[in-house]
Amino acid sequence: MPAPAAAAHAKLGRMDAIHRLAARLRRARHILVLTGAGISAESGIATFRDAQDGLWARFRPEDLATPEAFRRDPALVWRWYAWRREQVAAAQPNAAHRALVELAQRRPTTLVTQNVDDLHQRAGSTDAICLHGSIMRSICSVTRLEISADWLAAQTGEPPRSPHHADGLARPGVVWFGENLPADALERAAAAARDCDAVLAIGTSALVYPAAGLPALAQRHGAWFAEINPQPTPLTATADLVVAQAAGLALPAALAAWEDP
Ligand code: APR
Repeated sequence: MPAPAAAAHAKLGRMDAIHRLAARLRRARHILVLTGAGISAESGIATFRDAQDGLWARFRPEDLATPEAFRRDPALVWRWYAWRREQVAAAQPNAAHRALVELAQRRPTTLVTQNVDDLHQRAGSTDAICLHGSIMRSICSVTRLEISADWLAAQTGEPPRSPHHADGLARPGVVWFGENLPADALERAAAAARDCDAVLAIGTSALVYPAAGLPALAQRHGAWFAEINPQPTPLTATADLVVAQAAGLALPAALAAWEDP
């Protein structure tokens, strides 16, 4: 009998993979979905690690996405996130975001995202667990308390001062390299991984932990694992099914195949 990984790598026809995905999701009791930047790529938001247009191919994370970078040059970091925030605000959720809303209506689903954009929420996934925070929120650099949009609008600084602490500045409400993930979000995600019987990793390079460890945690608790990603990742060899397609094609196709697996 072939090992799961070998089965996943067997050349499945496109529709065969979609039908297998639909059939397994249809009989799932609890689905855990882990998404990454790839699910927003079809909305025009750059991923981090795609070789051509990924953000980390054009910018250095150590200059922009660490607490040290913010201490060194808060204005540079603030402006970079303001630029990304404008792109997110101008983008729209795509067919993959919408398909996950539909999936949650069909089967109990926990959606965990590494994305800091708000496209899952705007598509209707209002209870998504955000492991890496939100680019649409700003927090105090000292207390980490949220800063209201009204306060920010009335300030001129780049970054604006924080209302919560005399030494505080407004900073993006995201988790930077070297920072801890929000403990409650991580706990809820891990609990879902332990409970689910099917886990999907969609549009993530699976290089950043602890998020990338969730599929393996679910597998250790007996879950079936599928990856949806046009490119291989370190998790590909461990998957029971690999759908090597764009999420905006694969997910709607799996829903369409639901009644006809
Ligand atoms: N559909 C599905 N997957 C796609 C698509 C698509 N249309 N387009 C690209 N991808 C895949 C790429 O092949 C890649 O494997 O999405 C993945 C994106 O990987 P990354 O850019 O590394 O994004 P992500 O995994 O979310 O990064 C994790 O790294 O810098 C940090 O905090 C940041 O949350 C981010 C974390």
